[in-house]
Amino acid sequence: MRASLPILLVSLPCLANQLGVVGYSGKGAESCNNCHTGGATPTVAITGPSTLQAGQTGTYQVSISGGAGSRAGMNVAVDVPAAQLLAVAGDSVSFSNEVHHSAPKAFSGGRATFSFRVLAPNFAGPVRLFAAGNSCNGNGSTSGDRAAMTTLQVQVTGGSTAPRIATEASSMPATVSGTTARLAVLGADDQPETALTYTWSMESGPGAVTFSPNGSNAAKQTTATFSRAGDHVLRVIATDAQGQAAASTVRVPVLAGMASISVTPQQGQVEPGRTLQFTARALDQFGGSMTTPATFTWSVTGGGTINSAGLYTARSLGGPHVVQAISMGRSGAGSVRVVEKVMLVDQSPPVVSMSAPAAGERLAGKVTIGVEATDDVGVTKVEVLVNGASAGSATAPPWRVAIDTAAYPSGPATLTVVAFDAAGNRGERALEVVLDNPMTPPAQGCSAVSGSPLLAFLLFALRRRR
Ligand code: HEC
Repeated sequence: MRASLPILLVSLPCLANQLGVVGYSGKGAESCNNCHTGGATPTVAITGPSTLQAGQTGTYQVSISGGAGSRAGMNVAVDVPAAQLLAVAGDSVSFSNEVHHSAPKAFSGGRATFSFRVLAPNFAGPVRLFAAGNSCNGNGSTSGDRAAMTTLQVQVTGGSTAPRIATEASSMPATVSGTTARLAVLGADDQPETALTYTWSMESGPGAVTFSPNGSNAAKQTTATFSRAGDHVLRVIATDAQGQAAASTVRVPVLAGMASISVTPQQGQVEPGRTLQFTARALDQFGGSMTTPATFTWSVTGGGTINSAGLYTARSLGGPHVVQAISMGRSGAGSVRVVEKVMLVDQSPPVVSMSAPAAGERLAGKVTIGVEATDDVGVTKVEVLVNGASAGSATAPPWRVAIDTAAYPSGPATLTVVAFDAAGNRGERALEVVLDNPMTPPAQGCSAVSGSPLLAFLLFALRRRR
């Protein structure tokens, strides 16, 4: 016990002494009895108006009777931050929206009384005062003293009432299979509803969500744009002119659906009588590989045959013949030319596929963009563009490009990563980010997530503090 005391003292909100202290009103776990012990328990009361008009100031007293009864001190706190505790000169001192005694006060007629004032918030509702009164023996130390705690509820009337949610947040459709959803909510207030501001945010979810409009009255109906499939919990806060708020949440599952099919090779070549393997890949609505494998139906028009596994068998010279892969109502196409001699021409671009960072992420300061791209022959160069202008490039792996986001205007920006192969084929990916210089602190590191191993694209930002 003895050993733990110094640690306790260090962690206290302020060094206590007879000149008064805040944080010991009994509103939280702490009280004067943390330090003052040994005396008999006094009686402590708060007196004053039990009702205040919104915005009105009332005068209150903390009175301490009984206990050691030589001199006393007090501390009062309040539970509603918009209510203000004010000092009465000679009796109380206000600090950090609490009041404490300005000096220990001698008992007279069996009690010591301290005055303070309460400025009611400008909205209606209950406000609770928490008071601790310490009855001391006057020995100038913490021994032989004891405090008691009490509360007083003050009802604030008139003024504005807090908004409430009249119609809870909802999503249309309730389960999303595309990339957007219409969200709606409706608040109510004692002021006209049109004075409410609706602000949407993502409470939890797999990737960033943007809302348009947002932070206005019009945002009671908004469009949410998702960046990943998965379960989202979206939250809206309706705020009135007094800063009072009401919140509502809606759970929006976004299902990954097959949106397109990519076929490789895009432009194949094969000699008569020989075979060429085609492969297909199903992409979801965000351009990522579908995790559940799809079954494709293959066909070729023009010449030659293709089997159910995508293996094309050439007949006579000609083409290009169109090779099609179909799955669940979606189709993707490639082509094949039957030629006398296959020239080893690299026609497939490097593949990059977006997985991280999430769209909408905030970037600040110097950022190193690392890219992983795959190519059937080899990647020779990676370039990073900010808003379409080259911000830097790398010509050897590991593909890392340092960019200084402070060189661009803060705000939404398009970050594009382009990978080239030796034949000049280019594969690129773009995402919307937010450049945030220089006022705001650096964003948190973003996580890197990989898609299918073949097409894994990894974009990660290694941020350095400046
Ligand atoms: C962290 C320990 C601590 C806490 C908590 C604390 N005090 Fe004190 N208090 C002291 C110390 C130490 C003294 C004596 C030395 C001094 O005055 O600097 C003291 C002295 C006093 C005295 C003069 C005592 C006397 O016998 O003459 C009063 C009155 C007093 N405190 C009131 C309060 C009140 C009211 C609270 C609760 C709201 C409180 N204190 C909480 C440490 C504390």
